[in-house]
Amino acid sequence: QTHLLGIEPLHPVEITTLLDLADTYVELNRGPEKHAAVLEGLTQVNMFFENSTRTQASFELAGQRLGADVMNMAMQASSIKKGESLIDTALTLNAMHPDLLVVRHPHSGAVNLLAEKVNCAVINAGDGRHEHPTQGLLDALTIRRKKGRLHRLTVAICGDIAHSRVARSNIWLLGKMESRIRLVGPPTLIPSGARDWGVEVCHDMETGLADADVVMMLRLQKERMSGGFIPSEREYYYRYGLDAAKLARAKPDAIVMHPGPMNRGVEIDGTIADDINRSVIQEQVEMGVAVRMAAMDLLARNLRDRRAA
Ligand code: CP
Repeated sequence: QTHLLGIEPLHPVEITTLLDLADTYVELNRGPEKHAAVLEGLTQVNMFFENSTRTQASFELAGQRLGADVMNMAMQASSIKKGESLIDTALTLNAMHPDLLVVRHPHSGAVNLLAEKVNCAVINAGDGRHEHPTQGLLDALTIRRKKGRLHRLTVAICGDIAHSRVARSNIWLLGKMESRIRLVGPPTLIPSGARDWGVEVCHDMETGLADADVVMMLRLQKERMSGGFIPSEREYYYRYGLDAAKLARAKPDAIVMHPGPMNRGVEIDGTIADDINRSVIQEQVEMGVAVRMAAMDLLARNLRDRRAA
């Protein structure tokens, strides 16, 4: 691939190749030396037009560990504030010859549009409610390491599906890997056409979590609910917040996932989030660095091949 804009265009073999490479970076990151010079001589620019803790930090760390020159654009202090467009901003940076652009943007499709205008590799770090491909990949790596496979699992994705790019990337990825996906949440937060995505839809946690191998919780994305229905947090927690009683419906060895940021007491009980026997939330963060190293490594190989041709 020239870019990593979403999971949708990826072939299962490409996903497996990336996850296999990421496994090797997990080992590197756990060792005393955390460096491999595969991006030496390349310039990585991180452009985050929306807040981030995990994704931005892990892309920065991943680039540094692979030897790239890493620049974090402070988008809040950029000339975007003076009215410069996304495309003009991208063209300006493109003129400085970056090799990898990592972009997060609040609008669905903005990163794909930007990728058409530049002559370097672009990675989507989350665009609106469209896709968050490296999150889907890091979730897959976490599941594969915990469950030993990605096929024939029952994965319950619970909460605000309507506004979630994480849900969409996971649905694409787990569907390609032939797992069974259940979307669980209130009718107002699951798109009416969701069944066309090849998933089951449940509106109560008791049915949705029954015999699940993986329980993936999502937060209410209030920043994307402008003008729409916003549920009361108290009622939401009662009906859809993951607590011990609801989790008891899943398989005894089911893992609990959350992409973060987490709202304790809203979509998940704090004791479940901290239960090291069930929750893999911190492992997800660890896998994030390895997956982003693997993604940039593979894109850089492709970039070098194209430039050499
Ligand atoms: N999961 C995720 O994208 O987290 P951040 O918004 O903190 O990057």
